[in-house]
Amino acid sequence: MAEVILQELAKDYPDGKKGSVRAVNNISLTIQDREFMVLVGPSGCGKSTSLRMIAGLEEISHGTVSIEGKTVNDVLPKDRKIAMVFQNYALYPHMTVYDNMAFGLKLMKCPKAEIKERVGDAAAILGIEDLLERKPKALSGGQRQRVAVGRAIVRKPKVFLFDEPLSNLDAKMRVSMRTEISKLHSRLNSTMIYVTHDQVEAMTMGDRITVMKDGNIMQVAEPLELYNNPENMFVAGFIGSPPMNFFHGSIQTKDNRPAFHGTGVNGNVLNLPLDDRLSEQCQQHIGREVVFGIRPEDIHDTTNLADQNAELSFEATVEVAEPMGAETILYLVAGENSFISKVASGRHYEVGQKLTLGFDLKKAHLFDPETEAVLK
Ligand SMILES: Nc1ncnc2c1ncn2[C@@H]1O[C@H](COP(=O)(O)OP(=O)(O)OP(=O)(O)O)[C@@H](O)[C@H]1O
Ligand SMILES: [Mg+2]
Repeated sequence: MAEVILQELAKDYPDGKKGSVRAVNNISLTIQDREFMVLVGPSGCGKSTSLRMIAGLEEISHGTVSIEGKTVNDVLPKDRKIAMVFQNYALYPHMTVYDNMAFGLKLMKCPKAEIKERVGDAAAILGIEDLLERKPKALSGGQRQRVAVGRAIVRKPKVFLFDEPLSNLDAKMRVSMRTEISKLHSRLNSTMIYVTHDQVEAMTMGDRITVMKDGNIMQVAEPLELYNNPENMFVAGFIGSPPMNFFHGSIQTKDNRPAFHGTGVNGNVLNLPLDDRLSEQCQQHIGREVVFGIRPEDIHDTTNLADQNAELSFEATVEVAEPMGAETILYLVAGENSFISKVASGRHYEVGQKLTLGFDLKKAHLFDPETEAVLK
């Protein structure tokens, strides 16, 4: 059972005279056997530091890492049954692809015949059999990436650790390597922990995703759960592109029903009677400030629709229209609220055009502006 458990794991880096900076702040996380876990978050949130502590490349300031039920804080990296793939690949330039892949096994005093077999198998999986005699400088970025992954595979680790392995590749290559790593995961059936700052990679590759910010875990969940039910404004804004729109306002009662009053320049721009689900969630917030969150695809252009729900409709002006092919991204303004809508590319939009828009309240979220937590 190659389960990886982090308990209250923390890292303090020395920081000149000030003492220390906390890069990872007491995170606890269980990565299940054979799970593909993605750690995602903005630059500097502590992803690489966490991964390096799991790998044994960084001293642990506090807490424990355990692999297969054993605490490994004091176990050397080479004895942790892990293999790590780095962003810069870290290949030896003077060695052939074969020797790069065989190097770790030679150090482990693995018999020659077995090395040959393992390198051969890994090369076949990755489709690089023809490249084994080349040096890294004679390879494309994607090929180098494959060699770096191959070097990890030959060691038959219990746990694979990836730190932004695709970030040096062009966009197209990234997409194809993404699928290859996912396939590799199903094929090898091992535990994988994958660090990225790219939320698309996180959403498409992860069995589960851990979202981090400032050394803390903000939420751990399966991709769609994270997308549909973010626990806080950070996760809501980080996952999804373009990001979720946030409207500031308060909950008022109208005809005995809670309604969201958005703040705008000429009085209230938004005046939305809430449905049962949202009404329930904001019980404790009547008369108080809240943030109303809704994703771009849940704001619909209802301008020409006969069955407009007048209560949930409002007018906005197009500031920018970006036709993307299948859909158009509209940057809109209503009062002092700027927001984004993603609509089907059926019609042509012009700057300055006035539209009637409708919210799909079933997909909306309410947040507490102080704690930034979703109202439940
Ligand atoms: N060797 C070090 N000495 C001091 N501070 C460090 C060191 N390494 C990292 N840090 C700090 O720790 C924090 C977390 O860094 P880390 O490299 O884990 O971030 P990251 O999430 O991997 O970011 P990125 O997406 O940019 O790679 C940052 O504030 C960083 O400046
Ligand atoms: Mg990093």
